[in-house]
Amino acid sequence: MSDFLTDSFGRPLEYLRLAVTDRCNLRCFYCMPAEGIDYVPRQDLLSYEEMLRLTRIFVQLGVTKIRLTGGEPFIRKNFYGFLKRLTKIDGLDKIAITTNGSVANRHIPFLKEVGITSINLSLDTLNKEKFNKITRRDFFNQAMNTYQAVLDAGIKLSVNMVVMEGENIEDIIPMAMLTQKDNVTIRYIEEMPFNGKGTRNSIGFNHTKILELLTSGLPELSSIPFAYGTTAQEYAIKGHKGKVGIIAAWSRNFCNSCNRIRVTATGHMKNCLYDQGVLNLKRMLTDGSSDQMIYEAIKTGYSKKFKDGLVAEANQTNPISESMSSIGG
Ligand code: 5AD
Ligand code: SF4
Repeated sequence: MSDFLTDSFGRPLEYLRLAVTDRCNLRCFYCMPAEGIDYVPRQDLLSYEEMLRLTRIFVQLGVTKIRLTGGEPFIRKNFYGFLKRLTKIDGLDKIAITTNGSVANRHIPFLKEVGITSINLSLDTLNKEKFNKITRRDFFNQAMNTYQAVLDAGIKLSVNMVVMEGENIEDIIPMAMLTQKDNVTIRYIEEMPFNGKGTRNSIGFNHTKILELLTSGLPELSSIPFAYGTTAQEYAIKGHKGKVGIIAAWSRNFCNSCNRIRVTATGHMKNCLYDQGVLNLKRMLTDGSSDQMIYEAIKTGYSKKFKDGLVAEANQTNPISESMSSIGG
């Protein structure tokens, strides 16, 4: 085994996003309903053993970067033990984690020690009351402690802010001002309809508006060339240590250089956030399939990747009803 896989549009597979759980201790309204969440039964989640096996196969196929997402990865039992084993797999250059920061802060030095290369912190506002309203929980101080701990540990830090009209537009500039003293990337994300209901709360506020607002508040903004495989259009700010980026996650203008796939908490492989899944890996992991069979199935699955997220969405047979917590963002 060992090829490097490209899809039918010549895009290489380099980056795996793996959701380690669908559980979360926050209830961000753009991601989950307030109540009545159908968590999947525990035995339907991928086990750590299965995740490690899958990761090794993905590395054989060319993956060099992995991001662990959720739900909230740090609330899964023995996540640290899993990280220790994952970071020993040869061939992974980058191991990243996306977290809401509510429970991670005490363990950040450990992350540095085992070789986690970057952390994305979900933080939609710098105002505690607003944070509590958006997340429906009270973890603002913990999230800010994680922010500081990641910087102190010298791990690359990005902040994900979902931008929503009527909720946190006033936070766009204050958030960008964090880059003045901190080496952090603030990423403004268009809201997507992955909240369990298929709707979006903030319809109007797209990437163009975000940029307009940023440039009006920060005239010294200069765009950084778009890097292959990334989703954010980034901007430097003169005199600032960090930078800002805009992710047109709903407008979908970056699909040409998409190099990623997702594995959901239940082991479904998705070529795109907006497709309905192309392969049930959990089934193959439990039905006696060999590594070679899984490897071939992933190859076939990846060849079905749609040209972009708009085509993927148009090909869904059912309306979108997933929550970001099970897809993993
Ligand atoms: N739209 C846009 N971004 C979202 N995220 C979660 N739900 C949504 C949504 N509906 C973001 C979180 C997290 C990342 C993985 O995805 O803020 O940082
Ligand atoms: Fe939890 Fe992240 Fe979803 Fe918020 S966005 S509810 S932190 S999984």
